[in-house]
Amino acid sequence: MKAKVRKLLKEKNAIMLAHNYQLPEIQDTADMCGDSLELSRQAAKTDADIIVFCGVHFMAETASILSPDKTVLLPREDAGCEMADMITAESLQKKIESLPPMPVVTYVNSTAVVKALSTICCTSANVVKITESLDADEILMTPDRNLAKYAESQTGKKIHIWDGCCPYHDRLTPAHVVAARAKHPGAVFMAHPECRPEIIALADVVASTSGMIQHAQAAADKEFIVGTEVGLLHTLNKQNPEKKFYPASEELLCPDMKKITLANVANCLENLSGEVKVPEEIRVPALAAVKRMISI
Ligand code: 13P
Ligand code: SF4
Repeated sequence: MKAKVRKLLKEKNAIMLAHNYQLPEIQDTADMCGDSLELSRQAAKTDADIIVFCGVHFMAETASILSPDKTVLLPREDAGCEMADMITAESLQKKIESLPPMPVVTYVNSTAVVKALSTICCTSANVVKITESLDADEILMTPDRNLAKYAESQTGKKIHIWDGCCPYHDRLTPAHVVAARAKHPGAVFMAHPECRPEIIALADVVASTSGMIQHAQAAADKEFIVGTEVGLLHTLNKQNPEKKFYPASEELLCPDMKKITLANVANCLENLSGEVKVPEEIRVPALAAVKRMISI
């Protein structure tokens, strides 16, 4: 199946991008794996005609926003993001109207219509930098309350927080971390900024998925407790056979990130199905918010 997909990709001049949480077979077949920021940068610069996005719907939308002349395919149209669904354009518009004028920073884990109403986007890798770059002391940040609280703690700015979250990262409790530390004394605990503040407070390292990969490779430490979606353990183990990685909790598993199989990828390439295209009236304002982020 891997050989079939690679052949189809070549025939169609297509590139296969995969998020770090995807199934091992997808990560091992893709042209590139990465975090949300790396994948959006790659989607912006590729010269392929087709982008097969192995991730969730908002990621394919971001690729379409950045590359409107390319065909963006999401091999499973039902791969969504529960956090992205916690805010709508209507509810954001109401919130904006209820506050004095201020920049709206929106996590890329959001729909294109929500991005279109925002000043600038951010990812887990750059949220602090983006927040600091804004010439404003008050900011509205959507949709992840945990990411917003993290940005607030790192920058000292007043952040109006949207009450959304990743239901999987939000499940991680201090009790999980305490139990993992007791089982693996001396292991470094890495947490994703989508985790709750009480988890961030316990972390040795706070980073995006690719930030964790880079840290694990560079560090002299040999054991790590991984506070993010369990899919990341595949790359961590593959790249560091001499090191040990333990999930902070087996419950940290996003079902939407596990939907795409190699058969789905082959099928979407053969039939050019699962196209995600953002209409121009939404794409143009959404692009402004994404481009501002990328320029920073
Ligand atoms: P990053 O890979 O950008 O850290 O994102 C995590 C995530 O939840 C993507 O859905
Ligand atoms: Fe959305 Fe959380 Fe799944 Fe990422 S891990 S796609 S934020 S539900």
